Amino acid sequence: MTTRRAFLRNSTLGLLFAPYGLRAYAEELGLEPGQLPAGQTVPFVMDSAPGAETVINGRKYVYFGGTGYFALHGNAEMIRTGIDAFGKYGMHSATTRSGFGNNPVLLDAEKRLAGYFETEEALYYVSGYLNGLMMAQGLADQFDLALVDETAHFSIKDGINSTRKPIVFYKHRDPSDLRSKLKSELKAGQRPLVITDGVFPTFGVIAPVPEIIEELEPYNGILCLDDAHAVGVLGANGRGTCEHFGLKLSDKLIMSGTLSKAFGGHGGFIPASAAFIQKIKQTVGAYSGASPTPTPIAAASAKGIELVQSHPEWREKLRHNVARIKKGMRKLGFDVGDSPMPIVTWTLKSADEMKKVQKELLDRGIAVAYLKYVGAPSGGVLRASIFSTHTDAHIDRLLEELKKLV
Ligand SMILES: Cc1ncc(COP(=O)(O)O)c(C=O)c1O
Repeated sequence: MTTRRAFLRNSTLGLLFAPYGLRAYAEELGLEPGQLPAGQTVPFVMDSAPGAETVINGRKYVYFGGTGYFALHGNAEMIRTGIDAFGKYGMHSATTRSGFGNNPVLLDAEKRLAGYFETEEALYYVSGYLNGLMMAQGLADQFDLALVDETAHFSIKDGINSTRKPIVFYKHRDPSDLRSKLKSELKAGQRPLVITDGVFPTFGVIAPVPEIIEELEPYNGILCLDDAHAVGVLGANGRGTCEHFGLKLSDKLIMSGTLSKAFGGHGGFIPASAAFIQKIKQTVGAYSGASPTPTPIAAASAKGIELVQSHPEWREKLRHNVARIKKGMRKLGFDVGDSPMPIVTWTLKSADEMKKVQKELLDRGIAVAYLKYVGAPSGGVLRASIFSTHTDAHIDRLLEELKKLV
């Protein structure tokens, strides 16, 4: 049954009842009735590009949300590059890349990706959400059973499901559980594929990749990483989780990433051998049957790769910021773990308490996320994403205000 609130929130007619609907919705969110602008039916509307300071619901906040780790999404050079490409090539090719749909911008983005990740080739497509699907479908003739971290991103589970192969879940970041699942679930002659996030988005923790590889070795299995959060950020050159562990990509260790987060652009990618890229092109419908990434977006994203590659000092600044906030959070008594990722996550006693802290911080001009995202406990978590453009003053302000609230 549709509740009165759901009706008011979701229907156009509901907007006619906005004064009641918004008040009820605001209450549900723990916001003061006056806090939502007139006519707004979602809690937050971003009125600027995301950055260390971001305008939300018409008000400027010190912003610790999202995944724009180098705050590039509003970068002027990227925008100019995108506009130039828009003028020259239009929106996109209006046909798939298996026919007339290639253009110099897409090819350049892929060349840059292959250069950045030191692989023979790379494949760039319209969304990082397709990472799991691209890898799993591309490898469909090379595995019989998929073993997936139980808190893997939705997109990984959807990607594996698209192959109609059986899935077994192993305990989060637990190689010994993976070992026992390999022993108990894999039938004689079957080939395993493990797929996991390289970095898990909710807590920013890293998958135990060397140990997973060790468990797979007796079975000659393949490991695929969705490294959406790590690329650009983790490892000496920002090549992600494999670089962090000093591991080389191969036909047994395959990664994917996104340009939508650290690189400030949009779209997923796989840097890999020429043979594997060719195989994906020939076998995966999401490549051969879809319009490619819009050209202006591809051009701006390729500029994002160039910028991240030529500014290693941004990663240094990010490390400084991560160290500063984690030290401060520990001083306040929070267990924020020791991941080098710019994701700082903590919980309080109850969901209500966390929502209250988020609201109090918003009142004071600071935006952190309250999430029930994949891998979060049932009550949710509070998460602050750290950007290279946050100043010490931004970070100290969050710490000071938090200290008053907990
Ligand atoms: C592990 C993982 N894969 C894929 C995605 C989706 O990437 P995109 O935002 O580029 O579609 C996300 C998004 O947060 C993610 O965390």
